[in-house]
Amino acid sequence: MKITMSVIKADIGSVGGHIAPSQKLLESVKQHVREKGRGLLIDSHISSTGDDIAILMTHTHGAGEERVHKLAWDAFVAGTAVAKSQGLYGAGQDLLKDAFSGNVHGMGPAVTEMEFEERPGEPVLFFAADKTDPGAFNFPLYLAFADPMNTPGIMLSPKLGKGFRFVIMDVEHTEGDRVIELSAPEELYDIATLLRDPERYVVESVWSRAAGTQAVSVATSRLHNIAGKYTGKDDPVMLVRTQMDFPATGEVLQPFSVGHFVAGCMRGSHNMPLMPVKMNAPISWFDGPPIVSCTAFCTRGGMLTEPVDAFDHPFWDRVRGHVADKAMDMRRQGFFGAAMLPMNELEYTGIMERLEVIEKRFTVRSMKKAA
Ligand code: 13P
Ligand code: 13P
Ligand code: MG
Ligand code: MG
Repeated sequence: MKITMSVIKADIGSVGGHIAPSQKLLESVKQHVREKGRGLLIDSHISSTGDDIAILMTHTHGAGEERVHKLAWDAFVAGTAVAKSQGLYGAGQDLLKDAFSGNVHGMGPAVTEMEFEERPGEPVLFFAADKTDPGAFNFPLYLAFADPMNTPGIMLSPKLGKGFRFVIMDVEHTEGDRVIELSAPEELYDIATLLRDPERYVVESVWSRAAGTQAVSVATSRLHNIAGKYTGKDDPVMLVRTQMDFPATGEVLQPFSVGHFVAGCMRGSHNMPLMPVKMNAPISWFDGPPIVSCTAFCTRGGMLTEPVDAFDHPFWDRVRGHVADKAMDMRRQGFFGAAMLPMNELEYTGIMERLEVIEKRFTVRSMKKAA
């Protein structure tokens, strides 16, 4: 059976700062989707990661279906009213447009969707990150789908050995989707050349070359492109189908043990290591570190199994300790150099106004004329 999996995610308000949505808010979104999604959706799962609420939906209407997008948008609008009534911080933060117009792309919420023919066994991983941006997934996707040091399946399985096709988006281009398709392993160095710059080039999808089927789908929206100013981090979501023609689940999870440095954390303005956390984890220390959760499902006829928490295992406790150490080491450096994002990322924040004033006070020394 051909199904569509759609994830639409937004920050519509949180308790105690940018920490976590309230139970009442989560419940209101759940109730809206449950009631209004009847007859439209096959199944759904609503969860939170930090201060973001993700609505994962299965249906048969394809990607970009207006009714599915409107359902999520309306759930977030209804939730925003609840957030306001509770005095939550940043109520409606990611709803950047007033009126819904066809689909939620470019309106603030993060979207990722995948349409696929279900395999006899259909394992899917749902990743949600908070306090970071879509480039955060470049590193784990490169390792999982292009590096045999991480993914022995590339050597051990003839299907994986045919390689993967990466669709990469230039997220600085705001007039439309500027994309390139590159194939691993032949174009590995070109892929590496782009993915090394995760604020500009972002993996949008990955496809099996042996089967022609889609393995990965990433939400690529950048809020500052929509708002023109800093309104919060993009906090991306990602779907990854695993096993058979694709890397095994463990091969997809392993790169997250590095705790690689990503853009985000406090005020979306720092470089900090990404910490794999349990489902529905809140945010703490220095509005970070940036976090990522991974919920594993299988589907049959679009029906989801119960969620299994892929980062709830003693192994990841050790990783979390290591990431906390890395984060504190970087934090000791305050705003200096690599600890904070480069100017082209900060230019969406209020720092520009201060710089403008300072700029006017600079003088150029005149050289003494030679006698
Ligand atoms: P099982 O034999 O448990 O299915 O595992 C196969 C595999 O490839 C795990 O990476
Ligand atoms: P969010 O994008 O998760 O709302 O975080 C915003 C922020 O500035 C945290 O310091
Ligand atoms: Mg927030
Ligand atoms: Mg957030």
